[in-house]
Amino acid sequence: MAASLLATDPHSCARPAEAVVRHLSLDLTVDFTARELRGRATWQLELQPGATDLWLDTRDLVIDAVTLEDGTTSTIFELGDADPVLGQALRIQVPSQTRAVTIVYRTTPAAAALQWLTPEQTAGKIHPFLFTQSQAILARTWIPCQDSPGVRFTYDATVRGPQELLALMSAENPQARSASGEYTFRMPQPIPAYLMALAVGDLQFEPLSGRTGVYAEPATLPVATHEFADLENMVAAAEELYGPYRWERYDLLVLPPSFPFGGMENPRLTFVTPTILAGDRSLTSLVAHELAHSWSGNLVTNATWNDFWLNEGFTVYFERRIMERLYGRPYADMLQVLGQTGLHHTLDELGKESIDTHLHLDLAGRDPDEGLNEIAYEKGNYLLLTLEHVVGRDKLDAFITKYFAEHAFQSMDTAHFVAYLHRELLDQVSGAEEQVQLDKWINAPGIPEVAPPVQSERFASVEAALQSWRHGAVPESLETTEWSSHEWVHFLHGLPEHISAEQLQTMDAVFGFTQSGNAEILSAWFPLTIRAGYGAATEALQDFLTRVGRRKFLVPLYKALLTTPTGQEQARQIYQRARSNYHSVSTSTLDTLVGKPSAA
Ligand code: BES
Ligand code: ZN
Repeated sequence: MAASLLATDPHSCARPAEAVVRHLSLDLTVDFTARELRGRATWQLELQPGATDLWLDTRDLVIDAVTLEDGTTSTIFELGDADPVLGQALRIQVPSQTRAVTIVYRTTPAAAALQWLTPEQTAGKIHPFLFTQSQAILARTWIPCQDSPGVRFTYDATVRGPQELLALMSAENPQARSASGEYTFRMPQPIPAYLMALAVGDLQFEPLSGRTGVYAEPATLPVATHEFADLENMVAAAEELYGPYRWERYDLLVLPPSFPFGGMENPRLTFVTPTILAGDRSLTSLVAHELAHSWSGNLVTNATWNDFWLNEGFTVYFERRIMERLYGRPYADMLQVLGQTGLHHTLDELGKESIDTHLHLDLAGRDPDEGLNEIAYEKGNYLLLTLEHVVGRDKLDAFITKYFAEHAFQSMDTAHFVAYLHRELLDQVSGAEEQVQLDKWINAPGIPEVAPPVQSERFASVEAALQSWRHGAVPESLETTEWSSHEWVHFLHGLPEHISAEQLQTMDAVFGFTQSGNAEILSAWFPLTIRAGYGAATEALQDFLTRVGRRKFLVPLYKALLTTPTGQEQARQIYQRARSNYHSVSTSTLDTLVGKPSAA
């Protein structure tokens, strides 16, 4: 899709139709003492005739100098007014024929993409750690760039850090430490700025197959290699489904627990939370999800954040197809039902008429981070399930494979996708248009009535157990021996919202929820214990909230605490202690929810 035909991005000041970036050469020094990245970014450009300026996004950066291609001729630049969400436009005067500009700059402590961890916040407790999180619009807080998913570029980088630490990027990566602490990177496939990533820490590598492997802190590496043993099978399954993996290697990086997301699909190197290291490989659908982004998202990219469902909806659908290939339909169906539970929860929270439940969003004037929710994931997936139901898998799979192949390394907006879907699929199958109601999915709230029901046969035993329990059966008598963590999570979701502390206690004694090492089970269990005032879980809850920085877990738990006066006080106390462990992505949400501690 030619960039100029796509929807314009309300979250970037870049004007790619005038001057667009094509390649980045980054040269950065990582200073853990000053908590600062400093160096230079050289951008190779393509100017349209008559263009006079290059517009870049920045936020909380210090710009020391800007020079033209030879690195010595300085040019006029200007930083615009600061917007708390969008940052400041950097306008650089570029004479016609300019092929490159270099920006000499430094990051500041406010850089929202960066989390600088002290040694105590790592598994090894000896070395500090740095990681970035650029999606959605935080790349501009560590690189002056055209921070729009509609603009792609290749890059190379030199990163200098402490010699005891390994540096990794969303690029070709080293597998061992260098003697000097200096590393060079090359990313030959063009990517949007939100996929720029860097991590620096005491990291080691373990291969899983010829093209896959895991990076983690030494203490975490053995657990991680065990957990992700099926990684190569996942990549192979994904390729069988929707075409070749286009990024050469696929590695995972296990971050310290403060990582604010479950996973982030940084190309060639997915970042994951250690909270999926359950020991029993039960939470690896998250890896399938991030892997699927290598097609939906990284290869064919949402043009703006309003089109986010094109990234996430396809990815959830693809993730579950991978899981089905590896572990069978009954397994994947459990994931579908759990997804539906989340979807209905989100619909209730946002309200049936909310425009934020449309697939095509209108996030102009808002922080995309606050507007991006479960709808893109689960309603998007549900649209694809409906398409599958109407046209059949063979036709849908052929469509998706072609869609990825024909738009590889390009961006896509909702309007162009809708036209493509009509032309390539809906118009080819008689009655499909009628049975799918595409416009209702995209531009109306809630879930269209045409959506097929989603069911799980394995959850029948969970419904049965819940039923017996409601009729007075004691926990010991429930038939739960074959259950995976998914059945347990579904069971916890099915308990009454206001169950008593005594009832929880009898269950906890038999099933050991409070002591569970599975983060999904804990995060389904704690809201019940909070609401019931079940004190025996308090210490485990506090420990969880202090250790883990994953926003998806934190927000519902703090929300549950905030519903009672004693809980409110507890929430404030825990947050005061835990806040320094959280990434800005999490604190920006929690500061609003819990209130910013006065000392912070
Ligand atoms: N790309 C997202 C994470 C993201 C979305 C970061 C929007 C910033 C803005 C990633 O692929 C994702 O969806 N992660 C999920 C896990 C997934 C299994 C639903 C998460 O982190 O919980
Ligand atoms: Zn995703």
